[in-house]
Amino acid sequence: LETTVPIALEPISGACGAVASGVDLRHELSSAALEEIENALDRHLVLIWPGQPLTAPEQAAFTRRLGPPSPVPFIQPTADHRDVVAIARRAEEPPRFNPAGGWHSDFSFLPEPPSYTVLQAVDVPPFGGDTIWANQYLAYNALSPPMQALLAPLGAVHSAARAFAPSMQAAFDALAEANVVTGPEAFDQEVHPVCVVHPGTGRPSLYVNREYTIGLDGLASQEAQPLLDFLAQHSTRAEFTCRWRWSRGDVVVWDNRCLQHMAMPDYRGHARRMLRTTVNGSRPVRFVESAAAVGAAGEQPR
Ligand code: SIN
Repeated sequence: LETTVPIALEPISGACGAVASGVDLRHELSSAALEEIENALDRHLVLIWPGQPLTAPEQAAFTRRLGPPSPVPFIQPTADHRDVVAIARRAEEPPRFNPAGGWHSDFSFLPEPPSYTVLQAVDVPPFGGDTIWANQYLAYNALSPPMQALLAPLGAVHSAARAFAPSMQAAFDALAEANVVTGPEAFDQEVHPVCVVHPGTGRPSLYVNREYTIGLDGLASQEAQPLLDFLAQHSTRAEFTCRWRWSRGDVVVWDNRCLQHMAMPDYRGHARRMLRTTVNGSRPVRFVESAAAVGAAGEQPR
């Protein structure tokens, strides 16, 4: 079935994010519609389709149109579809357990982290629980040239140890919705460049996050930690962000390669349940500033 093109886009902030309309996500997408979605993602980084509830197979099928599914370590799939995981907390569960409640880029500890994430709201709290995204092109561009030069050769060490170490299994088991199987592979480490180039847009962005980045390759922790603390704070500055107040059936797609995100943990006493699918990505590539590109790095992405 053909979908309606063109897609209408309404930005939700000056940094990133746009509400999209003109596509019925339940239907097979034409190549033209798919290309439009990918181009819109390159421009806006986060695309939001309000009120388009999908079954788990429909969400998986839509996601697979964007690319093959990413491996999903630690989190078990839902009973409805092997590509789909639930990111959820029940109303009575302790507010100190906040699924996706810290800034991160999905599974950045993988050798090939997911390119896109698709998230659908199936149960939303009456208040709170927004998702916030931070544009990492803007974060890179806002650094001074000496700081960009300092970071350019550095590799960041990513690991799932803080999130999925075996010592956390009992805590996950106490939660009805977590569906997490921890393992020693949480201690595996991957080094990715601190400054990466997006494979689609060719633009530089930062690629570090507080949840999964545990060090800087070759630096002592006393050297690395102040830099990582600065980057964590800088990369999530309010002016780089957009946020979405979810309603049931909203579907959002975002590009992990140039964003961080978090689920705002402010819905104490209420349930929140999201269904997530992810698209396989490629190994992040270091940004190397060519002579021709000097001066262009400050351009805004949209
Ligand atoms: C995620 O981190 O992928 C989920 C974000 C959310 O639940 O808002």
